[in-house]
Amino acid sequence: MTNSPLLSLDARYYTDASIFEAEQRGLLARTWQFAGHASELQNPGDYFTFDLAGESLFCIRDDKEDLKCFYNVCQHRAHRLLTGSGNTRLITCPYHAWNYHLSGKLRAGPNIKAVSGFNIDNICLTEVRVENFHGFIFVNLDTNALPMDHWFPNVRDQLADYVPDINQLKPLQWVEVPEQCNWKVSVENYSECYHCKLNHRTFATGVVKPETYDIQPQGYCLRHTTECQNLDKMTYPINLDANAHAGDYSSWFLWPLFSFQVYPGNILNTYHWRAIDADHVVLWRGWYSVEGKADRTIESLAQQDRDTTVAEDIGLVESVQQGLKSRGYKPGPLVIDPAGGVDSEHSIATLQQWMRNTDGHYFD
Ligand code: FES
Ligand SMILES: [Fe+2]
Repeated sequence: MTNSPLLSLDARYYTDASIFEAEQRGLLARTWQFAGHASELQNPGDYFTFDLAGESLFCIRDDKEDLKCFYNVCQHRAHRLLTGSGNTRLITCPYHAWNYHLSGKLRAGPNIKAVSGFNIDNICLTEVRVENFHGFIFVNLDTNALPMDHWFPNVRDQLADYVPDINQLKPLQWVEVPEQCNWKVSVENYSECYHCKLNHRTFATGVVKPETYDIQPQGYCLRHTTECQNLDKMTYPINLDANAHAGDYSSWFLWPLFSFQVYPGNILNTYHWRAIDADHVVLWRGWYSVEGKADRTIESLAQQDRDTTVAEDIGLVESVQQGLKSRGYKPGPLVIDPAGGVDSEHSIATLQQWMRNTDGHYFD
């Protein structure tokens, strides 16, 4: 007896607002999420605010130069504490001026000494787990979350090998790419290359050798590997003798909303999906250079990527989102080749499995 093929998810997982709400409370609050780059927080008191899983949060560098992340909510009567980004010596609430040390501990508040039994030492902002991953700050709302090295085994070391100067990199460009689709449509599209030969001519003929492309799980990372072609015909010069991976392409997708990608020449770029609602996601493309210095090669590669792969993918994912709302669509079988390879969607099956593993309430 043969098993029936695994199907794509039911359309409602991509279109139903209540499922998106469940993801905010579950999956997105239980996984490592990108917050920003450590170079934005160079000095004690530097901070930036951001939203995640329906919460406002902020990251800040404290007096001991450690990176911290807190819920952006005052422990008095819940006013928001900080907005935007900047530098501050104390975190002062705009409502009644309670103020907190950079460590999150309450320092003072008007007339609080008049309250008998008020123990200032018991009041502290609520802290969020934070990790510095080669300068990329990730946070996890789950206080019991296992460390990133457990979720994404070997990725830290592999990135250091593929991008030898990763710890000197700073953002050169952040480009915001809105997509009218569910975040899972965009992430699934990123995570298979079954569509590449037909839709990404520049990528499939100018960068990678599709017949060698594969995507395999590495913990909760989907690792993309391939041989490259035409390195001598690339649009920018590459010194293949510079280091062991100077001529390599690879990518590490960190479930559920972030990916590191390295182009030949050890050029790092990142994908960060911000899930807005069931029908909208914003993809932030990040490009980096040593100390964030202007770099014509990287800037023109980023432009070429936007004009080709990124633009090509927007058309695909937005068409899929429309189709998912059609009464005429029934979930189709995934093309899973037991041998893997470029013309297989085994990685989509892996994403489905991860949805089940990392959110117990996700599936009925
Ligand atoms: S709510 Fe922050 S001081 Fe009152
Ligand atoms: Fe694509």
